[in-house]
Amino acid sequence: MDSHPQVLFVTSEMYPFSKTGGLADVMGALPLALSRLGVSVGVITPFYGRLASSEFPLRLIYEDCPVGYPWPETTADIFLSDYHGLPVYFISRGEYFDRRFLYCTHKGDYFDNCERFIFFCRATMEWARRLSNPPEIIHAHDWHAALVPAYLHFLRKVDTFWENTKSVVTIHNLAFQGRFAYRLFQESGLPPAAWNSSGAEFFGDFNLLKSGIAYADLVTTVSPTYAQEILTPDFGCGLQGMLNHRAEDLRGILNGADYAVWDPRQDRYLPSTYSPELLKGKRRCKESLYHELCLDHEVLSRPLLGFVGRLRDQKGIDMLLDILPEIIKKDVCVVVLGEGNLLYEAQIQDMMETYPGRLVARIGYTEDLAHRIQAAVDLFLMPSRYEPCGLTQMYSLRYGSLPVASAVGGLLDTITAYPDPEATGFIFSPPEPKTFLESIELALEVWNQADQWNAMQVRAMRKDFSWTSAASQYIQAYQDIGAYLAPA
Ligand code: ADP
Ligand code: GLC
Repeated sequence: MDSHPQVLFVTSEMYPFSKTGGLADVMGALPLALSRLGVSVGVITPFYGRLASSEFPLRLIYEDCPVGYPWPETTADIFLSDYHGLPVYFISRGEYFDRRFLYCTHKGDYFDNCERFIFFCRATMEWARRLSNPPEIIHAHDWHAALVPAYLHFLRKVDTFWENTKSVVTIHNLAFQGRFAYRLFQESGLPPAAWNSSGAEFFGDFNLLKSGIAYADLVTTVSPTYAQEILTPDFGCGLQGMLNHRAEDLRGILNGADYAVWDPRQDRYLPSTYSPELLKGKRRCKESLYHELCLDHEVLSRPLLGFVGRLRDQKGIDMLLDILPEIIKKDVCVVVLGEGNLLYEAQIQDMMETYPGRLVARIGYTEDLAHRIQAAVDLFLMPSRYEPCGLTQMYSLRYGSLPVASAVGGLLDTITAYPDPEATGFIFSPPEPKTFLESIELALEVWNQADQWNAMQVRAMRKDFSWTSAASQYIQAYQDIGAYLAPA
């Protein structure tokens, strides 16, 4: 394990240690892909008091690292884990991170999220300062880590340790910016010079993601289409002006899929594995899910439609609920796995009672069930209103579960829409219940033509979104901002 990484990732979640969504999957895979290309990477992340996996044990390596926030004497403990040869440093401070959920409960965001992630970013800088060599790149992900490039920008001027370190901030979801009261800016440790409309200030509030965008040497996001979309008022979430200002330093690098975790050939959560050459196992996965979830066996030979994702407006779950009665009339079953908005959770549960055996929803977060649904369904539904990249549609392609998705962001960059001769799925636009339903109807017609369906499935399963291509683009990006990445 290399104890002075050239590239240091800063992230609030990382699979398999902690996860609420795609960010964690990216963090579990991209550092490894970079290291396979010869770049040494380390990761810094909070320790949430419990670990989702015992495969990679933690050991305490440093006690009482001074952070100086929110009180002069505040400290963090640092734990280390060896993740397939990469160092993962965990910032630990019980009162901030030892909680059941990462960011919020059903009642809303934790009241002290700003303090928590100021603490995390400051602790990151303090711990990284103690490494034997400065990293060439600090790469921060999303708003929780976005103060790191801002701190670096100002520290570089006064501390020679940092003078050659460059920073990157990656936007995984622009809708989450970490916007808080001015009072918290005053406590953050950023100098007054950062308080202006091209810095940390956003309509009188302190905006953590904007601070990162303002001061990072390079800004990236997770698909080429989203990189274009966020320059417009429809997708820019109020930051389009700022992003246009930095357009020269903004890149869209398409995420990959981690096939070590998401591949039906070797998926440990499936009752039966399968491949494009031997699809029989997919049928077994479907049968087994009908048993597991008590789906209606009478329609086992009809298509199974599935949704896995956060039950939020972003994911268009309301559109799915709108058209469910129409879909179910078509003699199919629908399975939903997700959690999020209480209203949607309640609505789905009500509908389950109306359509017993035809609609089965599991409210909650279950990693293994997500895999089994990916494998069992014929159609994977993704009616997102916006989608920075989206990983689940890439997984569904690999599992031969053809996506029906809206024409936004990374969905456009990963799915070839029917009736293209190279089609791997179905795309609808604009994202509305009517167009969504029409697209499902079209998919069901194609499903009736077994040869055509099978050809699409095989094509989808052979698509390769492995991380190597993204990792090389990140290396190029690091080099373009001056990092000298000699092979480790
Ligand atoms: P986002 O990050 O916007 O939620 P992505 O498609 O990038 O969307 O990634 C979502 C990740 O979270 C996938 O690994 C998906 O399987 C997983 N996931 C989402 N909801 C659930 C759930 N309820 N249970 C298990 N896994 C889930
Ligand atoms: C965000 C986005 C999702 C993306 C993921 C990983 O959660 O909503 O589209 O795939 O980050 O980059």
